[in-house]
Amino acid sequence: MPSHTAPHRPITKEEPYGICFVCLGNICRSPTGEGVFIDLVKKEQVEDYFYIDSAGTAAYHTGEPANSKSQATANTYGVHLPSRARQFEAADYTSFDLVLAMDASNHSDLARLDQQNQYAHKLMMLRDFDPTPEDRNVPDPYYGGMAGFEHVFAIVRRSCETLLHQLLPHIKP
Ligand code: 4NP
Repeated sequence: MPSHTAPHRPITKEEPYGICFVCLGNICRSPTGEGVFIDLVKKEQVEDYFYIDSAGTAAYHTGEPANSKSQATANTYGVHLPSRARQFEAADYTSFDLVLAMDASNHSDLARLDQQNQYAHKLMMLRDFDPTPEDRNVPDPYYGGMAGFEHVFAIVRRSCETLLHQLLPHIKP
């Protein structure tokens, strides 16, 4: 069982729960998190209770759609990746309940943006929710082959399923 719990509050349609998935480029891992979570909340018919986004710690790929291999992998599982890359900004901490770093480097970059250390409770690693974490990091698939993208998808999906199941009891219809 994962030892971590997402910060929670009553989740209503008036105050939906915001999650921002964050990686380095915002073209591979975090768009996969965003697309998978959107797919899961639609399947649970709770999409009105969440707002889901993704961002990168770097701005290299601003405006780009998700990587074609990430899209192809997700599409195999019926998941659409709608993201356009953007850089995470400190102000995003005020908009989201939970900011999920894909790896330790993303986590330290995000922690540095929280200059007053006000939002530490909102910043977690996606794999804090992985029921079978062999590692804390979602490995960067960018320079590798399709197997890496498949591996990322599997990690992201099981972690997102665990997270959503932690949050569902807090929904107040
Ligand atoms: P991501 O993958 O962080 O999962 O989107 C990467 C994409 C691009 C680069 C690095 C990682 N890059 O160096 O351009």
